[in-house]
Order: sequence, then structure tokens, then C-alpha cells
Amino acid sequence: MKKRIIIGNWKMNPRTLEEAKNIYKSTKTVADKLKSVSVVMCPPFVYTSTLLNSRTETTVKIGSQDAYFEEQGSYTGEISPVMLKDLGVEYAIIGHSERRSKGETDEMISKKVALCLEVGIIPILCIGEKVRDEGGSHLDFIKDQVKNSLNKVPKKNISKLIIAYEPIWAIGAKEAMVPESIYEMSLFIKKVLSDMYGHDEGISTPILYGGSVNFRNALDIFNKGKIDGLLVGRESVNITGFVELLKTVDTI
Ligand code: PGA
Repeated sequence: MKKRIIIGNWKMNPRTLEEAKNIYKSTKTVADKLKSVSVVMCPPFVYTSTLLNSRTETTVKIGSQDAYFEEQGSYTGEISPVMLKDLGVEYAIIGHSERRSKGETDEMISKKVALCLEVGIIPILCIGEKVRDEGGSHLDFIKDQVKNSLNKVPKKNISKLIIAYEPIWAIGAKEAMVPESIYEMSLFIKKVLSDMYGHDEGISTPILYGGSVNFRNALDIFNKGKIDGLLVGRESVNITGFVELLKTVDTI
């Protein structure tokens, strides 16, 4: 059986390295005992090295929350996928809506995804509509987002890609999207990928859901939403909630 992927996006949390070590350690202790779940934690860049160095034997992977689209050079403040790879980082969230809202375009995202795949970092490509209407225009929006974000990715590299569907209206909200609609969207995204890359590639690309996931709704999202994993924001830095979430999902 394919393991379910749970990715913790810590965003700009917590405030201190000590707290970061604490979240990491507590999560790791539980994550290492899980049978059907694989866990990726994406802390802020500044904590990455320390967390990686504090690792003993563990199944938990470390990801970054972004990666630039050049390997090195005069790009003040940016961090390249090559540097991440060298540290031991294995995943990178790319195109999160909180970055898109600061001006990140599909064009930049497509270069980031392509470079990550080339250098061996697994990109978690975030997509999601701002609003929905009766006419279903969000479907065209999502289709364009997928196409534009992957237009530099050749078929030979697609097998490592992960897509996180995060409707923007459900991020940081009170309620997650209803699981039945999550299922519909994941089928739609797989269809778009199949049209682009072929049936097998479309079916096998993991589609994650993100947006107000917590330990209470995670099980329902998996059971009825039939997704391959979750991208968890706030609940991933809430130790008790996240640990509970991991244990619950492992019972499926
Ligand atoms: P949330 O964030 O779980 O806090 O809604 C999800 C995300 O932005 O990845």
C-alpha cells in the first residue's frame, strides 16, 4: 500500500529555535512509529540545518517552504534547490498562495518546479482558486494553473511531483472544504495531468489537500475525499493536535 503523505507547513512559526526543536522532536517520536503515513516537516529556512543535524535515524523528512529558480548567483535573500539538496532537504513547497499573493507568478513557479525536479528536490506544487461560482469557472482556473506551473517540466521528471490542492478560501479558515468536493477536485486535477502527460502519470501523481485541516476533520477528508495526503498549516505547529492527527490517519 502507498503511504499517505502528511506535510507540515510551519509557515513563519515558531518564534525560537528552542520551540522549533521541541515541535520537531515531539512529532518525530510519534511519526517514527507510524505504519501507513510518511511525514514531511517544512520549517522556516533558518531552523533547517539545526533540525537536520539533530537527526538520528528517522523516517521524517525535511522540506523547505520555497526554493529559487536559479542554482546560484546574485539573488539577494534567495535560496537555491542545490543548496537545499546539499543540506539534506528533500522536499520544497512551491507556489504557496501566501507567496503568490506577494507577486509570485505561474512563470516563476514553473521554473522553480522544473529546477527542483532536475536537482532532486521533490516539489510540492500548490494550486487553488480564490473564489468559486455557480458556473464552475474555478475549474478552468485550476486547469490553467496546473498547465502554466508545469510548462517547463518534461514527462521524464513528472513522477516525483506532488500537487497540493489548497482552495485559498479554505486556508486559515474555520472549516475545511467538504470532503466530497475535495474528491471531485482531485479527480479533475488527475484528469488534467493525464491529458498533459498520459494516463499512468496522471493517476500516479499524489494529490494532497490543504486548508484548515485538523485532527478532527482529517479522517473524514481521507475517507470521503480519497486524497493521497494532506498539507497542514496551523495544526502542524500545535504539537498535541498534530500528533493526534498523525495517529488518527495511521488507523485508516
Ligand atoms: P491552514 O494552512 O492549515 O492553517 O489552513 C494550510 C496552508 O496554508 O498550507
